[in-house]
Amino acid sequence: MDTGRKNSVCHVCAGVVREFADFGSQPLSDAFVLPGDPAGDFRFRLAVGVCGSCTMVQLMSEVPRDRMFHHDYPYLSSGSRFMREHFAALAARLRRDELTGPSPFVVEIGCNDGVMLESLAAEGVHHLGVEPSGGVAQRAAAKGVNVRNTFFDEPTAVEILAEHGPADVVFAANTLCHIPYIGSILRGVATLLSPGGVFVFEDPYFADIVERNSFDQIYDEHFFFFTVRSVQYMALMHGLELVDAERLTVHGGELRYTLARKGTRAVSPAVAELAADEELSGLTLPSTLARFASNVARIRTDLVELLRSLRAEGKSVVGYGATAKSATVLNYCGIGPDLVPFICDTSATKQDRVTPGSHIPVRAPSAFSDPYPDYAVLFAWNHADEILAKEIGFRESGGRWIRYVPDVHIV
Ligand code: SAM
Ligand code: TMP
Ligand code: ZN
Repeated sequence: MDTGRKNSVCHVCAGVVREFADFGSQPLSDAFVLPGDPAGDFRFRLAVGVCGSCTMVQLMSEVPRDRMFHHDYPYLSSGSRFMREHFAALAARLRRDELTGPSPFVVEIGCNDGVMLESLAAEGVHHLGVEPSGGVAQRAAAKGVNVRNTFFDEPTAVEILAEHGPADVVFAANTLCHIPYIGSILRGVATLLSPGGVFVFEDPYFADIVERNSFDQIYDEHFFFFTVRSVQYMALMHGLELVDAERLTVHGGELRYTLARKGTRAVSPAVAELAADEELSGLTLPSTLARFASNVARIRTDLVELLRSLRAEGKSVVGYGATAKSATVLNYCGIGPDLVPFICDTSATKQDRVTPGSHIPVRAPSAFSDPYPDYAVLFAWNHADEILAKEIGFRESGGRWIRYVPDVHIV
């Protein structure tokens, strides 16, 4: 792996970003196209670096937002039962702790198919989802969720404030890290929030990515990789303060950050504790990042060797979960239909299409047991508990799961 060769400008503080890992030429991670459709041909160089000033980890180049988030954006948040429960619990908590005034207002940035807002909508809470991807926005609207089909940014926030008044809660899950123009987002949030309001967001935690070698969290849509320290810095630039940080197990390890206007809330001890852990582990030091890059290169070698030897032995192998993450693994490792003939996925938006760049057909989960393969690569490893439980018959039939984080192993 080429490392440390290039610099770019930090999207948070304009400092110098130094590259530490290069995944080469990659397609759009969600470009699931019909076989033979050249629409999936867009490519960019996927590389990641760290800012020497504010320590924000970020991609070295950005993909135009309309290429990624458009009417046919295929990711459906409600596809996982576990995530539906996660967001229902969060909605209930926000309702109990934050949406307590006479007519509270909540805005969600990137509401997707309405997985978080639907229960608040059903309760009659004043809400608005902001969602640029038309297809998923329509699904949210069909559930009774109020949706504005556009990108959230500072001008949108000004319009929402004029139309609806200030928000008690602005929420975003797995969305803030997708947005390179984050200064506009934070200015918009600072404009829109009521004086005592909170901005709550949850995204993959860089400490978990390093600890698990989960390099597949790095793809076009994941522009930023947050840490407590970098979020603290970014918040203060906009008159906001990180008042709480909570570790989550979802999506392979996330943090839920709570920001408030500076000085309006007590800061939870968890913030200092996590910041101290980051410092102690040298999370964004060059030596840590170089070790991560070399672990990733080893995973590539091991995974390709394993798949080639299984093919040589005549074993059948399929993939499970056509995640956006899998685009990085498949394209970085050069894995195509010769090694993994198809991948099963529950998303109707991905089925009967091929994976971006690697052109592996995506099939409905019913293909998995028809008949069961000898091995299955678990690309949706972040949903392992849910998938292994529902596919218990695979293990009982003698099948084995191939995992590749934190290292390549068979279970
Ligand atoms: N919140 C959902 C969840 O956690 O499952 C959806 C996450 S999905 C990975 C990211 C979503 O962010 C997409 O639906 C995308 O269309 C949306 N998005 C991207 N840029 C956005 C922006 N500037 N404003 C609002 N939503 C945006
Ligand atoms: P994600 O890791 O970005 O959430 O994507 C998960 C993908 O895995 C998504 O395309 C849906 C798919 N999936 C299944 O095929 N079966 C399942 O049981 C779950 C939870 C997800
Ligand atoms: Zn910076």
